[in-house]
Amino acid sequence: MPQHYLMCPPTHFTISYQINPWMNAKVATDAALAGRQWRVLRDTYVDLGHTVDVIDPLPQYPDMVYAANGATVIDGIAYSAKFRHNERAGEAPAYLEWLVAAGFAPAHAAETNEGEGDLLHVGGMILAGTGFRTSTAAHHEAQEVFGRPVISLQLVDPHFYHLDTALTVLRDDLIAYYPPAFSPGSQQVLARLFPDAILATESDAGALGLNAVSDGQHVIHAPAATNLAAQIRERGLEPIAVDTSELLKGGGGAKCCTLILRTADDDAPGRAAQTASAQLTPGAQAPDHQAQPAH
Ligand code: ARG
Repeated sequence: MPQHYLMCPPTHFTISYQINPWMNAKVATDAALAGRQWRVLRDTYVDLGHTVDVIDPLPQYPDMVYAANGATVIDGIAYSAKFRHNERAGEAPAYLEWLVAAGFAPAHAAETNEGEGDLLHVGGMILAGTGFRTSTAAHHEAQEVFGRPVISLQLVDPHFYHLDTALTVLRDDLIAYYPPAFSPGSQQVLARLFPDAILATESDAGALGLNAVSDGQHVIHAPAATNLAAQIRERGLEPIAVDTSELLKGGGGAKCCTLILRTADDDAPGRAAQTASAQLTPGAQAPDHQAQPAH
């Protein structure tokens, strides 16, 4: 089914600080190239029939292009981000303001979390990363905000500092992930929940191939992730390679640039809408959720 995405153009993209191992402030970035690659990504979504909204980039936030970190939006509720690093702090209110204006019900985070970078919706639950950015207290908070089970997963490799760099949701019942990015216990959790998951190779994960976007039928992924593309095809989905190499310099790929906006009745990629459109329209009847600190 068609998805609704929010993206932010890389107008001010550059590497002026280093908050993950991919970033090197000595490496030059090409804003024009980043812009061309970003437009191809956006146009790919539009050609697939998805809706892409765009938020205005703020000059003081070069990482704002990574829209996935801006919030987590499920069931028409926008759970705000609260960034680990000061360099990105001001992105959270900018994204929340946009989402509220678009009709989503705000839930203001008290706990540190980096939006959909670490909170991935799959099959009615939320897989949640911790270890580098998002706190476990935010996992509890997200569970209360969304009323959905949240499964905490421990990330252990700084190259995979956000969950969406190590795990991708392909369908309601199918994920792909790179086991060495997770603690032994979290690997066991994933194996129990998703025994048929695709396990990514080191080279695919190392190219941030898992930072992919699936609509349940098509999967937008980094061109270097060739094994992953074959594995995806074997499972009946269509892999589509889109080059976001310039944005990789900041430690992100297609998924980082894409915030999925889920209203009440578009529960998961690939699931047909079952609810009448009369049901909760974002903002229409949604209460203003005030997130409670976790206990
Ligand atoms: N430079 C950004 C940071 O370190 C990259 C964020 C990538 N986003 C993501 N969803 N993984 O915060």
